[in-house]
Amino acid sequence: MTPFDLHADGDPPADPLDLARSWLPADADPDRPQVVLSTVGEDGGPDARTVLLSAFDASGFAFHTSRGSRKVAQLAAVPRASMTVLWPGFTRQLVVRGDVVVEDADALARAWAARSDHLRRLAWLNTDDLAGLDLAGRRRGWAVDVRDDAAAQPAPSWVGYRLRPAELTFWAGGADTASRRVRYTRAGDGWQHRYLAG
Ligand SMILES: Cc1cc2nc3c(=O)[nH]c(=O)nc-3n(C[C@H](O)[C@H](O)[C@H](O)COP(=O)(O)O)c2cc1C
Repeated sequence: MTPFDLHADGDPPADPLDLARSWLPADADPDRPQVVLSTVGEDGGPDARTVLLSAFDASGFAFHTSRGSRKVAQLAAVPRASMTVLWPGFTRQLVVRGDVVVEDADALARAWAARSDHLRRLAWLNTDDLAGLDLAGRRRGWAVDVRDDAAAQPAPSWVGYRLRPAELTFWAGGADTASRRVRYTRAGDGWQHRYLAG
């Protein structure tokens, strides 16, 4: 899909999801965007880390993580987040803000099926206990077999979330003009947008 050009004259797509679809790789593309996921820390301060954007559609932008991770505790306390997607290179940015909900079991199973073997192994094996071992121990821990029947199921520690967009801000750099953004906010059942300085 040809990326929508934020510098083109005329209105951008009425639905920001259409713009996002033209900018980001399809869910089936193994080249996943890395996004900075920002949350509210339990001390009230901001926290952030990189995760992979697993998929997105009108129901939200999905990411997956370990139940034991700090972001999971933070999202249980304050189920709101933002995602900053820089894709591709330094040319385009999308910031999504909104509420975060836990994915149901069916969605989790579908996401697990789409995961690479390496990411499945990480979900099964990458624990704080393993991280605390010396290099030889970590190599031994990584070399263990994950049984096929177990690997077919999402690891018990694995959890998925969907960020439901309340606001989406698209940014594009400019070679011969200033950078420019378009911000979409909810308006009834649809969206309103306005252009902003970059
Ligand atoms: C490129 C990249 C991709 C990553 N993808 C994920 C991911 O999809 N899910 C995840 O839980 N952690 C991912 N991580 C690790 C996180 O950045 C982070 O270290 C981990 O989730 C623990 O975060 P927390 O303690 O803030 O919860 C990724 C790190 C990098 C650098």
